[in-house]
Amino acid sequence: MNILGLSGLLIDGAACLVQDGRVVAAVEEERPLRFKQASMRLSGGLPNGAIDLCFRQAGIAWKDIDHVAYFFRPWKEFLRMVGFRWAKAYWAPHVAGYYMLYHLDLLKGHLAVPHLVRYRCNGRVPRVHFWSHHLTHAASAFYVSPFEQAAILVMDAVGERDCTSFFLGQGTSIRRIRSWAFPHSWGFVYAMVTQYLGFRPNRDEYKVMGLAAFGKPTYVRQLEQVIGLKPDGSLKLDWSYFDPAFRGPLYFNKKFYDTFGRARAPEEPLTERQQDIAASLQELLERSALRLAGELYRLTGAAALCIAGGVGLNSSMNGRLAAEGPFRAIYVPPAPHDAGSAMGAALLTQYLLLKQRRQTVLDSALLGPEFSNEAIKTALDASKVRYEERSDIAADVAELLAQGRVVGWFQGRMEWGPRALGSRSILANPTKPEMQTVVNRAVKNRESFRPFAPSVLAERAGDYFLLTQPSPFMQLVSPVRPERRKDIPAVVHVDGTARVQTVTRESNPRYHRLIRLFAEKSGVPVVLNTSFNVDGEPIVCTPQDALRCFFSTGIDALAIGDYLVEKSWCQCKMQSAN
Ligand SMILES: [Fe+2]
Repeated sequence: MNILGLSGLLIDGAACLVQDGRVVAAVEEERPLRFKQASMRLSGGLPNGAIDLCFRQAGIAWKDIDHVAYFFRPWKEFLRMVGFRWAKAYWAPHVAGYYMLYHLDLLKGHLAVPHLVRYRCNGRVPRVHFWSHHLTHAASAFYVSPFEQAAILVMDAVGERDCTSFFLGQGTSIRRIRSWAFPHSWGFVYAMVTQYLGFRPNRDEYKVMGLAAFGKPTYVRQLEQVIGLKPDGSLKLDWSYFDPAFRGPLYFNKKFYDTFGRARAPEEPLTERQQDIAASLQELLERSALRLAGELYRLTGAAALCIAGGVGLNSSMNGRLAAEGPFRAIYVPPAPHDAGSAMGAALLTQYLLLKQRRQTVLDSALLGPEFSNEAIKTALDASKVRYEERSDIAADVAELLAQGRVVGWFQGRMEWGPRALGSRSILANPTKPEMQTVVNRAVKNRESFRPFAPSVLAERAGDYFLLTQPSPFMQLVSPVRPERRKDIPAVVHVDGTARVQTVTRESNPRYHRLIRLFAEKSGVPVVLNTSFNVDGEPIVCTPQDALRCFFSTGIDALAIGDYLVEKSWCQCKMQSAN
């Protein structure tokens, strides 16, 4: 039984293959397409690159697919959003008309999916199922969590009509408890303020989260007025701060700018005011999430919480929920955003429609394509680069990191979700305070306020971080123990926290071994881990992508499968050739 889950018409396109009840592959379309957060639409209506990689991993083709599970119920969104815009037509009919046409175009894109599937199948046609969007988010977290029963909190911009939803998961059943409708949405408000601060909405929210640590929450009272935070944690936007026609891209009106100042242009330097607004926004989000969690706990009495939706990528919020929330444990999947809905839709088909028993706990995010040593060697030979095969690549990299070198680490199956977790990572020595600047200059060329993350041996995590539970997918921000901050300065944020990844031997044996060997040399069981990409591009997928990134940046060495490439060897060769 093969079920193909699909998601991401406008952003975060993805495919997930569930085979006989097991999640066997999941890939985001951005990786093969080489366009960050690529949508299905960008690939011709289906996430064809991601689908091909899933099929290749499982050794199947379109003819083997029994069911296609889609992440959305398009008519529901269309009717809701057109109704919302109709109500605004009095203020600016042309604006309402534009948005109605926009939603009609989206509807067309969603409804084309069954036809495109039929075209690709060319004969035996699988059944196509449309699932409610927030239900797919809820399923993407709960069905792969270790919990038999859990409360589920979904927070995102908008899906069909819902922005925030409560569910209760029990066995294979997921019951909706409560929902809040558009536009009273945390995903939407956070995206609008992200744009107001000069970043890209629906893309750069993590930058605002990083910036928040530099500011003081001095605008909390004013922002609380705008969003209308209620005692149960939900929002009710105050329309007096918004354009009555609700016209994008900024949606705000003069009253908002009079209160908070003018919007920042992307190229302008950041000011203290913008840092304080980011801090205030983040503080209100965390307050709201804690209140929502309290309400959800009161309604369900569940001991565990699953979090999904795009706002679930806010690891500072997740960290506070884990530390201060009423739940004993929380689970955030590797892809809580819309890409993850592909997995949720496939699992809903498996459990609710086909009545199968739950059997998947996702404790590893390594669900993408992998490349054999032979395939890697072919890529290295084709690029005429000098390389060496090593008997223990982890030991070599541990030595290079101890020397202060920056290393590209390309091993095994690619990660599912936006975080590099030790398969497509750039690694450095966290004990050297200058490494943050070195990695930024050599590779990332990104804003100096954004911190780098640590990967720590799971069994030693408590020695360095005040974590209340494991964080295998780097979804929790946690305080670094004050006495340890001086030991790992390159991964400690300005507020003394870090976005931690805990690494177990079972989930990634080679990466675990590398960190252990590095600990033997440095005394610290932590490495600096950032994604293997340059700013603005997706994480590398293939050996060719890795070589391109390696040679176009200042990375010192590349550990790719069992092979090692050092930049200094290549320079020698080029010099001698000259
Ligand atoms: Fe969503």
